[in-house]
Amino acid sequence: MPVILGIAGSVRARSYNASLLRAIVELAPDDCRMETASIAGIPLYDGDLEESQGVPPLAAALKDRIAAADGLLLVTPEYNNSLPGAFKNAIDWLTRPSSDIPRVFGGRAIALAGATPGPGGTRLSQTAWLTVLRVLGTRPFFGRGLFVSDAAKVFDAEGRLTDARVRDQAQKFIAGFAAFVKA
Ligand code: FNR
Repeated sequence: MPVILGIAGSVRARSYNASLLRAIVELAPDDCRMETASIAGIPLYDGDLEESQGVPPLAAALKDRIAAADGLLLVTPEYNNSLPGAFKNAIDWLTRPSSDIPRVFGGRAIALAGATPGPGGTRLSQTAWLTVLRVLGTRPFFGRGLFVSDAAKVFDAEGRLTDARVRDQAQKFIAGFAAFVKA
């Protein structure tokens, strides 16, 4: 059964993107296995730290989880009309050493989704990620997208995705990506 690893690009306790990832896990088809991982605790990228101690253990473990998965799902916030620095920083560690990029990312099926309380559904952030997905040699999913706007209205106070229309969009999105991963 194909494994899809989902990572939310926010460490905020009530993160809409972490909530969206939980909803996607719930709504995923039975013929794929969803796993989740966090970027919490990954330090700022620092070439001196890398030289003296190598890739931090949390980042090294995440690299291995991605390499073992069939698909990777990045659930990204949008900051200042682009991708969030903390998420990019984590991904940057996962690309070290660069000789390991083909093992971790090469040909890996990868999809983007995102949630925002604003109106744009993280479209600008998801677009900004595309240059990163390209340089890493991934296999991006360009099927039905998932752009969740007005997050304060579609999630309840416990972070459950309660809006029926968005749940349907999320279900169709993950079904499409799961089929893409298997193909
Ligand atoms: C934001 N936010 C935001 N939202 C958006 O749709 N477009 C944007 O350009 C920005 N810019 C932005 C910059 C900065 C520095 C912050 C802190 C926030 C709002 C953002 O979508 C909101 O804080 C989300 O709740 C962040 O995602 P999580 O933490 O809920 O997953």
